[in-house]
Amino acid sequence: MSKVISIVSGKGGTGKSLFAANMGALLAMGGSSVVLIDMDMGLRNLDIYLGLENRVVYNVMDVLSGLCRIKQALVRDKRFKALYLMSAAPPKDERDITPLHMKVLCERLKEQFDYIIIDGSAGIGDGLDLAVAPADTVLVITEAEAASIRDADVVDRELTKQGIENKFAIINKVDPELMALGAVPTLADISKGLRIKIAGIIQYDRNIFIATNKGMPIVMKLGTYIERNFSKIVKRITEGE
Ligand SMILES: Nc1ncnc2c1ncn2[C@@H]1O[C@H](COP(=O)(O)OP(=O)(O)OP(=O)(O)O)[C@@H](O)[C@H]1O
Ligand SMILES: [Mg+2]
Repeated sequence: MSKVISIVSGKGGTGKSLFAANMGALLAMGGSSVVLIDMDMGLRNLDIYLGLENRVVYNVMDVLSGLCRIKQALVRDKRFKALYLMSAAPPKDERDITPLHMKVLCERLKEQFDYIIIDGSAGIGDGLDLAVAPADTVLVITEAEAASIRDADVVDRELTKQGIENKFAIINKVDPELMALGAVPTLADISKGLRIKIAGIIQYDRNIFIATNKGMPIVMKLGTYIERNFSKIVKRITEGE
């Protein structure tokens, strides 16, 4: 059964696009067919994180407004057997889309792909509604920082209001030293601040930062602690543990 996984956050810059790219890469490496949809309209990043920025012609808005067919807006990442990107629209695109558009698009994509991963925008409002409308599972990415955690909880409440129960939090950019010193919220504090189940923790690592700049999903380097950790998290999410 195909699944739609939407990735959102309260605060910006928490690692949604990074996680989307790496989750997509891991699932594709495991033999699944995957499409990543960048829904951060005007502020798209996923094309850069995958090194595909020069190959994007059409975007999700073009598909939804009937300007092109779905197939024309899918850019294949040739490093994988079946990993595709549908980019977000550039800034100043005034075309309107609704949650229903997103549901219809994902129903069509489900005919072709095992996983549809939606990289959402930060915050609450229309962007969140669009990103989560077709979701079977929602991931809320937060940093181990008081403001980010509170904002993640606000998003979680909004998801609950919308009847979305199948959701996980991921704590990203963790600095174990600061955490041990008690300078930032500890994992116990974070669990208390969030009602949502935690699927995993990702350390701050310069190699992750460098890889996104180079357009390489870091999980392509097999056997590293980062790849093993991402694999574990993705397994928890897809197997719903
Ligand atoms: N664990 C990490 N270690 C080091 N750098 C990271 C880590 N996670 C994310 N980053 C870096 O943080 C920056 C923001 O990440 P990313 O773009 O994925 O966040 P985002 O939530 O998608 O942001 P936005 O809200 O703008 O869409 C990027 O430069 C990324 O490389
Ligand atoms: Mg992003």
